[in-house]
Amino acid sequence: MQTKRLPIAKVAAALACSSTMAACAAPKPAAPPASERPLPLIVHADGRHALFVDGAPFLMLGAQINNSSAWPAVLPKVWPAIEYLHANTVEMPIYWEQLEPEPARFDFSVVDTLLAEARAHKVYLVLLWFGTWKNGSGHYMPQWAKRSPERFPRMLDERGRPVDSPSPFAETALEADTRAFTALMSHLKARDAERTVLMVQVENEPGTWGHVRDFSPEAEKRFEAAPPPELLAALRKPAAAASWHDAFGDDADEFFHAWSVARYVGRVAAAGKAVYPLPLYANAALRDPLDPGRPPKYESGGPTDNVIEIWKAAAPALDLVAPDIYMGDSPRYLKVLELYDRRDNPLFVPETGRGPGFARYFFAALAHGAVGFSPFGVDYTGYVSAPLGGTRVTEENMAQFALNYRLAGPMQRVLAGLAFEGKLKAVVEEKDKPKQTFELGAWSVNVSYGVGHFGPGKDPPGNPEPIGRALVGDLGNDQFLVAGFFCRVDFQRRDEASGKQREFVRVEEGAYEGTAFRTARIWNGDQTDWGLNFSSVPEVLRVSLGTF
Ligand code: DGJ
Repeated sequence: MQTKRLPIAKVAAALACSSTMAACAAPKPAAPPASERPLPLIVHADGRHALFVDGAPFLMLGAQINNSSAWPAVLPKVWPAIEYLHANTVEMPIYWEQLEPEPARFDFSVVDTLLAEARAHKVYLVLLWFGTWKNGSGHYMPQWAKRSPERFPRMLDERGRPVDSPSPFAETALEADTRAFTALMSHLKARDAERTVLMVQVENEPGTWGHVRDFSPEAEKRFEAAPPPELLAALRKPAAAASWHDAFGDDADEFFHAWSVARYVGRVAAAGKAVYPLPLYANAALRDPLDPGRPPKYESGGPTDNVIEIWKAAAPALDLVAPDIYMGDSPRYLKVLELYDRRDNPLFVPETGRGPGFARYFFAALAHGAVGFSPFGVDYTGYVSAPLGGTRVTEENMAQFALNYRLAGPMQRVLAGLAFEGKLKAVVEEKDKPKQTFELGAWSVNVSYGVGHFGPGKDPPGNPEPIGRALVGDLGNDQFLVAGFFCRVDFQRRDEASGKQREFVRVEEGAYEGTAFRTARIWNGDQTDWGLNFSSVPEVLRVSLGTF
């Protein structure tokens, strides 16, 4: 895996100019020339993770375009939406059917246009390899593959009927996909010294809808055999299991499919990574985190939360597995973030609903140290995936996302650095929960929703819709970075028994330029007497606290 584990002292050094320290007041040095740019890299320390870009933690403020929008002719309808959102990273598909129109003849013209236009619009790219699997099917296989079903077979169900999902045991398909993906990665290596591409997604929501696994003769033979020893070891199962059923009981079919799909994806990923070691990941169509049931209730075989360890063992070339989150309710959304933020898995939300209610979850992702976050379907082609969260794509209904990115954009390096050091906390409003408290160092932070700006705001009613969100970063020495929308934030000493009360020694509103904070004004009087009130205006505060 192209990842790096750093001892915490080294992390502090790496962050010296990325987050909070006084030395960072110096202007940011110019980015190194393209030929010397380091590769984007996932770095791990103390169970936390960061995406390093140009050698320091970076936060992807993402937007994913619609499935059929990564064509040169369509890009004019993409860029205005990206600009409005203030995204710094755009997720765009690369279509196998376009890249390899005839076996072993590659057409990189579209990739080259995407690179050129992304650079012209000053954004990074995450490329999505629509190869063997796209939402569980093989619809992006080139025509020549679709016309050879014997070499590119679909799965079979229990009655021997073909299923609209590729068999993970198709060696010819695996070889062909590997060749194409490797060609793509080689091309990026040759053409992207500027490191416009930060990460690559391998396949798209791999697995199968409607069926738990392949029942082809090849699959049956493997299912009756002993599971691979490395899988048994990874899942801490006795090495002596004679069959999948023997080892995993009722989970056997699902685990078998997860292992088989992950092995395939892992082999494609490993081959690509061997030629150009960018961070790689696979995305998951989720199961309900609170009431999962079993396949076919959800897509089988992909990196759902119950098989993350299987994916880790089967596909070590992937740096992470990532949830596509379209569940709008906060208990489910927050649970998914918790499940994918693991010591062995950096959190990345490569797709999420675009409805206004989803915007606040950007803050929840920050609280989990996410390396990036990305609403889905951001372009003005007119396509609307409404049930997945989001009506027509207009500035008005993307406004909450744009607010997030306008706020976070100038200080994304600071936020990423604080998160990597474990010094960033954030909360989001939940329905019928108008008050929240969390701890940061010697302080409790109280966040309330729906109160007016003036007055004690004792019994906050909550906002009419739960859209509030707040973040607090610990800058050291009782100084905090505070920001949010539609909320009030206040602090209280945790050792209240000592009788000490909080004093706002100095509250500066300003903006980060790189990692240096520039003060624009000082808040005092009405603006601080009742706490720090945030409305729909992106405001960043540097707050120095004391006691009396
Ligand atoms: C999840 C997939 O990963 C996306 O490509 C897209 O199909 C959405 N679902 C639905 O719009």
